[in-house]
Amino acid sequence: MKRLSDAIAMALLSLTLSASAASADASQLYETHCVACHGEQRLGGIGPALLPENMGRLRGAAVQKVIADGRDATQMPAFGQVLSKAEIESIVAYIAKPLAQPPVWGMAEIAASRRIETIPAREQKPVFSADPLNLFVVVEVGDHHATILDGDALEPLARFPTRFALHGGPKFSADGRFVYFMSRDGWVEKYDIWSLQKVGEVRAGINSRNIALSPDGETIAVANYLPKSLVLLSASDLAPIRTFDAQDANGASSRVSAVYQARPRNSFVVALKDVAEMWEISTQKGDFKLRRIKTDEPLDDFFFDPGYAHVLGSAREGAVSKVYALDTGREVAALSLPGLPHLGSGISFVYDGRRVMATPHIRSGLVSIIAMDDWSPVKTVPTPGPGFFMRSHENSRFAWTDSMMSKAKDTMSILDKTSLEIVRSITPSAGKTAAHVEFDRYGKRVLVSVWEDPGELVVYDAETFVEIKRLAMRKPSGKYNVFNKINLSEGTSH
Ligand code: HEC
Repeated sequence: MKRLSDAIAMALLSLTLSASAASADASQLYETHCVACHGEQRLGGIGPALLPENMGRLRGAAVQKVIADGRDATQMPAFGQVLSKAEIESIVAYIAKPLAQPPVWGMAEIAASRRIETIPAREQKPVFSADPLNLFVVVEVGDHHATILDGDALEPLARFPTRFALHGGPKFSADGRFVYFMSRDGWVEKYDIWSLQKVGEVRAGINSRNIALSPDGETIAVANYLPKSLVLLSASDLAPIRTFDAQDANGASSRVSAVYQARPRNSFVVALKDVAEMWEISTQKGDFKLRRIKTDEPLDDFFFDPGYAHVLGSAREGAVSKVYALDTGREVAALSLPGLPHLGSGISFVYDGRRVMATPHIRSGLVSIIAMDDWSPVKTVPTPGPGFFMRSHENSRFAWTDSMMSKAKDTMSILDKTSLEIVRSITPSAGKTAAHVEFDRYGKRVLVSVWEDPGELVVYDAETFVEIKRLAMRKPSGKYNVFNKINLSEGTSH
């Protein structure tokens, strides 16, 4: 008996030894071949951060392929001739592991990363004649660029490089002059649309989710997974103002899922991924006072009513969504929405004299329509498959949604807001993913992404659904109309 357990112990010991030898080799290989571009502790440099939190769906064989073949037309070299298959496999395993210690990224590191390129002139007028409020900012993740598109002429005005993998929607200053982008690796970039120049950038986190601009336009909040923090930056010069460690009242730490601007409340509302709490941070006098609102369980995807009196949040598995009154912090309703609603893409409109909201679902081919006075279900409308985005405009009778999470990924469905029926299906490009819609400022034209690389923007007449134009784009993940964004159009998320 004793000998058997000794043998097992020996076997276990040699297993651990060989595993740690392999990982020592892998870290050595990383130091030799990758660190120059991907940075100390894999935090990123010229190349993106190589952490599992950042790489998301890119795993296993796909990572092996990137390392062996490199990426065309980028600085990522091919290592297929330099490293053996076993070595590549060991690096893949190495970068799939989270860091042993959470990375340190506080005020000092953020401040040191800040770079200002252009000090914008105050008196600047747009350097182009296009309507500055009917511009679209198109994010092209295929080759990490953004295009500024004239929404009337439907011609690009400028195209410039962005940080790797922009994430979440860009945010605009109240006059529509400046746009702020955030990348998956935590870079916040500021761009002056009127002069078509980049203002500067700062790295506010290592793995980030989204940003929001305060109602007074002075502060940017950044929601981070890594480190677990909310970071406030000055919107004018991107200097860090302060950071909040994301912890609940008992000191349990949490990733920050998202931050939202609550304009009528002069505050940010913050969703926490791992604890049963949400935050409201006052931006009133720049005091940034934190208020904790207890919830039954963590809620991480939010929709607000137009007055920001209530927030609807979905729980992690999406079985139940809860409505809280923001003033009292009390739960006022619980809804069961089938198949993980994507509340962040929810829209609202008036149907039959009542304000309703509509949301697509990530795991079911349904759009849920809910009355916002008593949060009761109004209708569930079937679509060809699970989708992600939904958009409309106050001047349009129709709302558009996709089925991008399904076999019908190439199909857009058009909902008539007066009958709550799907009245048309449109396939911009057969077999190719169609997703993310934005209206122009008048609600007259609709821009749909063919979400591929290379992909396209397809422009339709919002009334007749006739195709107007196609523009070649590199995986246009989103497009944002300046007017609709700064006026908090009811047909779009903010
Ligand atoms: C000369 C700079 C450079 C070197 C050296 C380098 N990389 Fe890269 N790597 C990049 C760049 C730049 C990208 C982004 C390419 C793009 O735009 O898609 C990248 C992308 C990647 C990606 C894809 C990340 C993602 O999220 O899409 C992986 C994985 C990767 N590199 C692994 C490695 C490994 C492992 C090594 C060492 C064996 C290495 N790289 C060495 C520059 C480099």
